[in-house]
Amino acid sequence: MKISEHLYKSSGVEYATNSNTFLLKTKEELILFDLGFDDKQWKAMEYTKELWGLDKPITTAFLTHGHYDHAGNTYKANEKGIKVYCADPDAYKIENGYEEMEKLFGRKWICARVDERIKDHEVFDFKDAKVEAHKAPGHSKGSFAYVIETDGHRALCTGDMFYVRPLPPQDAVSLELAYMGGDDFDIDDFIETLDKMASLHCDILLPGHYSIYYGDVDALCKEAAAMVRKIREERR
Ligand SMILES: [Fe+2]
Repeated sequence: MKISEHLYKSSGVEYATNSNTFLLKTKEELILFDLGFDDKQWKAMEYTKELWGLDKPITTAFLTHGHYDHAGNTYKANEKGIKVYCADPDAYKIENGYEEMEKLFGRKWICARVDERIKDHEVFDFKDAKVEAHKAPGHSKGSFAYVIETDGHRALCTGDMFYVRPLPPQDAVSLELAYMGGDDFDIDDFIETLDKMASLHCDILLPGHYSIYYGDVDALCKEAAAMVRKIREERR
């Protein structure tokens, strides 16, 4: 699915996969955001490449976090010579085994290499696109978000923070918060992250599941932060 001239959704519900991956086309290369769960999702990404005639090599993959449905294909990226970025402790678990994911998804974790530990505020200049990395702990300790600047837009790739769902019968949407049951989930970090995301002035949301969203992403992040604050109050 084409999002803007250089940006594509390369897997997700449109392709019968649970989680989303995104592809950025630059002058010389293709950049992936998240790698997805398994073979089926990798094939969806390849189908997107074929559909849109994206014949440049995929050189880089930025992971939002290490959970199975986002990083299960890391070993595949290794085989294809794609440079993988992720942060610790998620990166460490990708490399050394992820017992929590094995229990949650009921399948064996395939250990894989993370080529670089991504750093907070790291900026990547891909000539006709720019990517900024932002530390975003909460859903998992090593979570990162990415601002993709391309085609005059600022697209925020959030991984698992919140999702946009329809709200029938109203002509409106509502937010659904991401899974908050992970071993290293931290509600205070999550709120701090959402507050930070609300100041990035993005106009396209690229969440880890379901639909993308065109509009005021700051406002969505503020709404999500308020929802999580309410949950924290109720838990006290
Ligand atoms: Fe996750």
